[in-house]
Amino acid sequence: MNLRPMKQEDLPEVQRIQSRITRQEVPQAWMDMLAEHVDNTYRLGFVAEDDGEVRGFILGEIKIGGFGTELSGWLELLGVEPRQMGSGVGAALVEALFAALRGRGVREIYTAVRWDSGDMLAFFKKIGFDKSPFINLRFEQPL
Ligand SMILES: CC(C)(COP(=O)(O)OP(=O)(O)OC[C@H]1O[C@@H](n2cnc3c(N)ncnc32)[C@H](O)[C@@H]1OP(=O)(O)O)[C@@H](O)C(=O)NCCC(=O)NCCS
Repeated sequence: MNLRPMKQEDLPEVQRIQSRITRQEVPQAWMDMLAEHVDNTYRLGFVAEDDGEVRGFILGEIKIGGFGTELSGWLELLGVEPRQMGSGVGAALVEALFAALRGRGVREIYTAVRWDSGDMLAFFKKIGFDKSPFINLRFEQPL
């Protein structure tokens, strides 16, 4: 398996994986967000490739001064081709992101999981995440 930074030409494959995970069409806004993670200093994107096919992707961000931390890394989105789940692709993608963050001097890495997403929580716990000192707050405004 080859892990490498996401390129412009990977975007349709990543879109296909995301669509298979969510079983929905991927909105254009999501694709615009994805494209921001190609060749960007603070927004990072990696793909796992096998036999010339993209098997999974990970998106992250480096924040400077955000949320009261000096420098932090954020794991934003991770998706593995459903047929490939459970074969180490997710863990390898996380390590690729962590290595890139280490290279940028980032020690603290955060992510967030929906409270009812037991699968993601189990995966993150398995690879070493623990509870963070943050609490999430939400304000819902009428549109
Ligand atoms: C969660 C996800 C990223 C895991 O990737 P994966 O390639 O299937 O996981 P890996 O094979 O690398 O597993 C790494 C470890 O986590 C464990 N693990 C993975 N999924 C797990 C689950 N659902 N429950 C418990 N443990 C799990 C594995 O057993 C493995 O442990 P091991 O090293 O002892 O064998 C992947 O299943 C996925 O894309 N799920 C849908 C993602 C999603 O909903 N994304 C949107 C929100 S970000």
